[in-house]
Amino acid sequence: MSASMSRSRWPDVLPVGRPSIQCCASCGAEYPDLHASPQCDACGGLLEVRHAVPADAFAAPVDGIALRASFANHCCARPVGHASGVWRFQSVVMPTAGDAIVSWPEGNTALLQRRALSQYVGVDALWVKHEGMNPTGSFKDRGMTVGTTQAVRVGASAVACASTGNTSAALAAYAAQAGLPALVFVPAGQVALGKLTQTLSYGARTLLVRGDFDDCLRLVQDAARELGIYLLNSINPWRLEGQKTIVFELLQQLGWDAPDWIVLPAGNLGNTAAFGKALREAKALGLINRVPRLASVQASGAAPFAASFADGFRTRTRVQAETLATAIRIGDPASHDRAVDAITFTDGMVLSVTDAEILAAKRVIDAAGVGCEPASAASIAGARALVHNGVMRSGDRVVAVLTGHVLKDPGILVRMHQDAAFPEAPANAPIEIDASVSAVAAVLAADARSRSTVSPP
Ligand code: F0G
Repeated sequence: MSASMSRSRWPDVLPVGRPSIQCCASCGAEYPDLHASPQCDACGGLLEVRHAVPADAFAAPVDGIALRASFANHCCARPVGHASGVWRFQSVVMPTAGDAIVSWPEGNTALLQRRALSQYVGVDALWVKHEGMNPTGSFKDRGMTVGTTQAVRVGASAVACASTGNTSAALAAYAAQAGLPALVFVPAGQVALGKLTQTLSYGARTLLVRGDFDDCLRLVQDAARELGIYLLNSINPWRLEGQKTIVFELLQQLGWDAPDWIVLPAGNLGNTAAFGKALREAKALGLINRVPRLASVQASGAAPFAASFADGFRTRTRVQAETLATAIRIGDPASHDRAVDAITFTDGMVLSVTDAEILAAKRVIDAAGVGCEPASAASIAGARALVHNGVMRSGDRVVAVLTGHVLKDPGILVRMHQDAAFPEAPANAPIEIDASVSAVAAVLAADARSRSTVSPP
């Protein structure tokens, strides 16, 4: 497998003092960190970034304890600190970014505990890492701040991506801040309204492609190559460097006492790959003593990675994807090999959950006052399924990542709560009334009646 080839040649972290490099996982070619192409010039393979062990003031390598302290020092407080939850980990993300940094700022997202969610999953110690609390409402901001910074560093004249919606919203916002023209390719009719309107508002040239996400990704790669536009999909290794900080940050929030599991939704597999890379580095740098197991959760109508996992990763599966969780409606994930490495290294799991399970989990997450977009609910649905199957135990410490904000997909909310034809009865339909107190009282009385007819559990 190509990913293992890169593993044998490059350690997870380079010796102290070495400059960061980009290396090709397929053919072994090596490039300096300012090499402008996001893919290997020699073979077209995907690149991986390697950094040296961070050094102290005397150029000696720091140990895990000193590195943890430096991350804590860099947290928010000026003048040493950085308000970004990505850039305070700069020494393990992009050490030489200098003045080029394009930051909203992003990250520093909450790690929540809610009794309703613990009960639903069946795990006492459940935390939810809410990446929907990033500036454009998804975890993509963490990768995009680093990817856009690299675009500035290499002198890109324009940036582009294919997207199911969140990447395009993030790209549009960060490109606007950097003053770079942005071009996005999204599947026509398949992008949630919140994401599409964000992308338009931030000013990206938006192309609605007659095809699915996989068609968009092929098209943007050809267009970027032929038209000289800098590609900012998660194929780009710098995106993954930024997304690694979800893991660094949650480990820091848990006092560097690693959980037993980290559960995340999976589509194009950039995040699964980034999480695996973060955990490899956290272990190699002495930040953690043991490695959590990753659980990547796909929608059952878009589950090529789960099919490959079930086959012991002997074959790479591709499918025609279909799911109402449009963010992860992807049939041919680009970061397959990198994600195989992440799952193998962490003794992880890949599973799929049905759209009905995703919606059921979303109802619980929303009703807990937390909220998330449909794809994000796959992590809670997946954790629940793992408990049900006996793989995850009720005593395990589990972090489930919610990847996007509840308002990303208002269309599904309208259908869930106001469309009687939608699966399951409308949950919380709004009621139109006359402008009178008696009308309000009538609604409250009806609610009280229906509560009294519901038998206790
Ligand atoms: N959750 C959300 C909300 C997403 O937007 C995505 C991916 C994922 C999970 C899956 O992450 O692709 O790294 O496995 N969205 C991409 C996009 C594809 O274009 O916004 P992944």
